[in-house]
Amino acid sequence: MCGIIGYVGKQPAASFIVEGLKRLEYRGYDSTGVAVVAEGRISVVKKIGRVAQLEQELAKRPLAGTFGMGHTRWATHGGVTDANAHPHVSSDGKIVLIHNGVIENYASMKTFLLGKGYTFQSETDTEVLGNLIAYHYAKAAESGEENRCLASVRKALRHTEGTYGIVVMCVDFPGEMVAARKGSPLIIGLGDGENIVASDVSAIVARTQSVVYLKDGEIVHLSAQEFRITTLGQSAVAPLVDRVTWSVAAAEMGAYAHFMEKEIFEQPTALENAMRGRFSEDGSTANFGGLNVSAGEFRSMESFAFCACGTALHACRVAEHMIERFARLPVECDYASEFRYRNSPLFRNTLYFVMSQSGETIDTLAALREAKRKGYKVLAVTNGVGSSIAREADGGIYQHVGPEIGVASTKAFTSQLLIGSMLALYLARMRDMSFSDGVTFVKALKGAPDLVRQALGQAPLIKAIARRYAHVRDMLFLGRLSLFPIALEGALKLKEISYVHAEGYPAAEMKHGPIALITEECPSVFFAPSGEILNKIISSMQEIKARKGPIIAIVTASVELPAGLADEIIVIPECHEAVLPIVASIPVQLLSYYIAVERGCDVDKPRNLAKSVTVE
Ligand code: AGP
Repeated sequence: MCGIIGYVGKQPAASFIVEGLKRLEYRGYDSTGVAVVAEGRISVVKKIGRVAQLEQELAKRPLAGTFGMGHTRWATHGGVTDANAHPHVSSDGKIVLIHNGVIENYASMKTFLLGKGYTFQSETDTEVLGNLIAYHYAKAAESGEENRCLASVRKALRHTEGTYGIVVMCVDFPGEMVAARKGSPLIIGLGDGENIVASDVSAIVARTQSVVYLKDGEIVHLSAQEFRITTLGQSAVAPLVDRVTWSVAAAEMGAYAHFMEKEIFEQPTALENAMRGRFSEDGSTANFGGLNVSAGEFRSMESFAFCACGTALHACRVAEHMIERFARLPVECDYASEFRYRNSPLFRNTLYFVMSQSGETIDTLAALREAKRKGYKVLAVTNGVGSSIAREADGGIYQHVGPEIGVASTKAFTSQLLIGSMLALYLARMRDMSFSDGVTFVKALKGAPDLVRQALGQAPLIKAIARRYAHVRDMLFLGRLSLFPIALEGALKLKEISYVHAEGYPAAEMKHGPIALITEECPSVFFAPSGEILNKIISSMQEIKARKGPIIAIVTASVELPAGLADEIIVIPECHEAVLPIVASIPVQLLSYYIAVERGCDVDKPRNLAKSVTVE
């Protein structure tokens, strides 16, 4: 939700900021803007549309200067208009700021500021905060206070409720930048004679790999040469400098048409990275560093609970299936957004897991905090190194799949499925699973990247199928057991990038309602792997066929469907149960991708969405 970047240094600010915004655009993309502070003036260029349009505008109206900031917006308060785009300048012309988050008490602040003579050009909560900073700045200036840019931000934030990641500059102090966070991510990039603040590392890796992750409640005051972090309460904070382990190439599209396509085809490598070094020497179980929960504590747990949002929740639902199936332990799965308010009764010996690709999803973060408040240990499965969720969890498992830029999650999802299966193995081996079954399980997991490669080999066939069905308005995704969450995921993928209405259902449940949707124009994607309930799945297919519904069947290699039952057949390799959901995800990712391309949709930046949802 909104990407922000601020720069103080010796290089031209605007061109660097625009490059950074291109990398942050996945966070929000309805409008963009840049401001530069130079020669006693704040100059702003902002408009609705994408960064590419901003770039064209900047070519007509260049901004010279080496101190500046930029923003790419996902609208919360106020519609998508040029005026509501960031940066916002205070009505006295002193302060310019960009913001990611939601200021909840903006209305009372605005009433106060109107009474003091401040005026507003936009409908945003951000402009209100900017004017509140300007108000405190004016008072600090009157009293000759030192460090007044920093002091005024601090004072304004003490009266601010809600979430924010902000970057602030003051016309009187070019070369100084103040940034602060509460609930919205911010990192500091430490360069050579330059410092950068951004929503995430993708915006800065082209310049530096040295980063400091700012924590909630911290403010940083930067110049080109130095930076100083304090808390809102003015205590000094000793910074911890980290190194980003991936290079700028990982965040580039290369020869692919879209990031989503690249990330789908990267999955074999992503899975290898997610499992590397995570099996025991005897090859019979999984090992995780960083859990901060001893094997004994794991052993004593009576149940597990998972919270997440969207695609990550689907991965949790598969983990639920795997842990219950192999470790025979009860698991609860919940929408993070519901869990935080449901106040559900919990078992005493329950270990909590949250899953989040970004590690910044506000609902998941809030669920983590709620579980911790109740006294539970919470572990995180996340791809976001140094993210809020990674930092606040008691321990966890990094996915290690590199940056995922496409809004539709693909490689992060399959790595979460892998980690869920590895957790099931770890727990099962503490209980009834034998050494030899453990070895078989590990071998199966190690074979997953190759099986995924084989499934990716179906891409040309799936592309052709996508062409035949790209015009439809509705589609059902039907699967059973561990593939029911994959049906949910298939439907989510299709909806979010192609705007085709899709629903995921347990295959047999379909006859309790969704079957009413079936016509010649509503295809059903069926997962039909070999196994005990294949015949039941075939019966559900027959029920659809009897109503003239087209069927796209995803079958494992040994399955032979009755002649003429399926209109399209996609074959994936036979595999161990622990790996099946990973391999079965590939055809639905590809199908959604090719349908979206066929429909001319903006695959990597679907309408109304953002990659990381940092507002409630
Ligand atoms: C995935 O395709 C979606 N864009 C979305 O559902 C996403 O999975 C969800 O917002 C959770 O994100 P997170 O994993 O970063 O927490």
